[in-house]
Amino acid sequence: MCGIIGYVGSRPCRDLVISGLERLEYRGYDSAGLALPNGDGFTAVRAVGNLAKLKAALEDVAGDATSGLGHTRWATHGRVTHDNAHPHFDQGGAVAVVVNGIIENFSSLRRELQAEGVVFSSETDAEVIPHLLARAYEGDIVEAVQKVLPQLDGHYAFVAMHASEPQRLVGARHECPLVVGVGDGETFLASAIPAFLRETRDVMNLESGEIVILEADGVTVLNGQGPIKRTPETVDMDDDAAEKAGFETFMLKEIHEQPQALYDTLGDRLRPDGNVVLDDFGLDDAALARTERVHIVACGTSYHAGLVGRYLLEDWAGIPVHVEVASEYRYRTCLAGPGDLVIGITQSGETADTLAAMRVARERGAHVVALTNIMGSQATRDADGVLYTRAGLEIGVAATKTHTAQIMGLALLAVKLGRLRWALSGAGAADLGDELRRLPELLQQYLDSPHPAAVAEVAQRYANHRFFLYLGRHVGVPVCFEGALKLKEISYIPTEAYAAGEMKHGPIALLEEGSPVVTVATDGHVFDKVVSNIQEVRARGARVVAVATEGNEQIAEHSDDVLWVPRAQPLLSPIIAILPLQLFAYHVAQTLGLNVDQPRNLAKTVTVE
Ligand code: AGP
Repeated sequence: MCGIIGYVGSRPCRDLVISGLERLEYRGYDSAGLALPNGDGFTAVRAVGNLAKLKAALEDVAGDATSGLGHTRWATHGRVTHDNAHPHFDQGGAVAVVVNGIIENFSSLRRELQAEGVVFSSETDAEVIPHLLARAYEGDIVEAVQKVLPQLDGHYAFVAMHASEPQRLVGARHECPLVVGVGDGETFLASAIPAFLRETRDVMNLESGEIVILEADGVTVLNGQGPIKRTPETVDMDDDAAEKAGFETFMLKEIHEQPQALYDTLGDRLRPDGNVVLDDFGLDDAALARTERVHIVACGTSYHAGLVGRYLLEDWAGIPVHVEVASEYRYRTCLAGPGDLVIGITQSGETADTLAAMRVARERGAHVVALTNIMGSQATRDADGVLYTRAGLEIGVAATKTHTAQIMGLALLAVKLGRLRWALSGAGAADLGDELRRLPELLQQYLDSPHPAAVAEVAQRYANHRFFLYLGRHVGVPVCFEGALKLKEISYIPTEAYAAGEMKHGPIALLEEGSPVVTVATDGHVFDKVVSNIQEVRARGARVVAVATEGNEQIAEHSDDVLWVPRAQPLLSPIIAILPLQLFAYHVAQTLGLNVDQPRNLAKTVTVE
C-alpha cells in the first residue's frame, strides 16, 4: 500500500516522478505529493485526492530539479488530509521522506521527540522518520539512516533525501518492497518495477533489512556488515499493460484479457498426454506424490480462487485440502508440518497477511509454494517454490484476470497431483487436459458473443437496488463469494453470499418483495437443488438473476433474468461463470457513475495487516 518513487540523474525529473506515480497509483490514491530540491531546501507539493489533483497543483511549479521523490498514499495512520500527505519533512525542512508501511512504535517515538521540542505537522506514523533523521544527521544522510533504523519497529520502506546532498537518495526496506532501476547516468527507486519501466528494464531487488544509496552514476547496497555486490537483472515485462488499450477502464480491459491470461498460464506446462510440468515448484515428483495434505492461505479474491482449488484438488487428486484466509491462519495454532504442501495465493506477492501465514507454515517445516503473478515478488522469495500465473500486470483494484488465472494454476496442480497419487488415470488426465485447453477459446467466444451486452442491460435495470443476495452450491459457492465481492468493492452496494443450502438458516429473512437474488445455476449435479432454492426465494417475492449454461431452457422458467455462459466441465465452470458476475458488477458501478478502477478506501496491494 502506498507507492513511493525516487529519482537521481541529469534530466529534469518532475514529470518523471509523476509518470512513475501514475504507474503506482493502484497502490493508493487518497492523496499524493512530491518534493524537489531547490538549492535552498525543497519545493514540496501535496494534494488530497488522486494524481489528477496533484498534477493540477503542480502547474506553476518549476520542473528543472534533477532529483526528487514522490508518493501516492493509502491512509493507515491519520485521516486523508493535505497535512497527512507525503512527503514529510523535519522542522527545518532539510530532510524529505516518503514512506510505505507502518512504523508500529511511532507513538513512543513521537512522544520522545515532542519532549525534545519537536512540533509535528501531521497525524501520521511516518512523520517520525524525518525528525529522527534530522536529529541523527551529522553531514551524511546514509549514516543518519543507519543510526535511525534500529529505532524503528514495524514493516516499512522509505526513501529519504537531505537538502544539502540533493544528488543522493537513500532507501531502506523492512519487509515492504523497494526496487532499484538502473538507467544510463540515472537511477530510480520505487515500490514496484512498473514505476520506471518506461525508462529502464535493468532492475535490482533489495532484501529486507538492506539500505540502498542512489547516485546518478551508481548504486550502493549495504547490509548490516557493509557494502554488498548486487548486479542488475534485465526484466522482461510489458509496459503496455499500464495502458488502457482503447478500453474505458483497466478493469474492463483486464476482463477481456482473461482468455490470454489463461492461455499463457497453461503455456507448455500441460503436455498432450495430460502430464503437467511445473518448473520452479521446488519439489520433485516423488516428493510431491508423498504430500499428505494441502493448506491454501490467501486473502480476498485470491482466497476465493483457493476455495475453487479445493474442489479440484480433492476431486481430481483425492487429497485433503484446508483453505483459510491468511489473516486468521497466521494467528491460529498452525498444524502444518513436513509432508504438507502450503500454497500462498497472492497475485501481488506482497499481501502482508499471506506472507505472514506462509512464513508460519514454513517455520513448521511445510513445503511452501507461492502462487503469484509477480516475478521476484516477496512471496517468491519467501517460498520454497513458485507457481506463476501469467496474467500480465493487473492495474484495476478489483481483481479479475488474476483470479481466473489462479484457478487455472490450481487446476494444473490438481491434474499433476492426481496423476502422481494415482487418483487420475492417464486417460482421465488427458481428458481434463483437453478441458483446460478449451477454456481460453471458450472465454473468448463468450466475450465476443452478445452475452456481455445482455449483462450490461440487466445490470442497468438492477443498479438501483440497495442489497443483493448471492446463492450457489458446490463450486458455485466461491463463484458467489467472488461475484458478491466484486459488486460490493466497486459499487458499494451491500451483498451477502451464501451456500444456498444455508439460506433457510438465516439469510432468507433478508428477502422482501423485489429483492434481487443472484444465483449460480450452471449445469452440474447440484443444479436441481439450486432450482429448489430459487423457487423458495421467488415464493418470497425475490427477483432472480441466474447464471446458467447455454441451452438449459429450464432455468428461464424459474428466473427473472438469465446470464448465459457456455458449457464447461462442471468443476471448471467457475472460470467461466465468474465472467458475467464481473461484468454485472462492472456495469452496475458504471451505471452509478463510480470509478471502478479506483474504488474508495481500497488499494491494489495490501502490504499492511
Ligand atoms: C480483489 O478484487 C481485491 N481487491 C482483494 O480482495 C485482493 O484479492 C486481496 O487483497 C488479495 O490480494 P493479493 O492477491 O495480491 O494477495
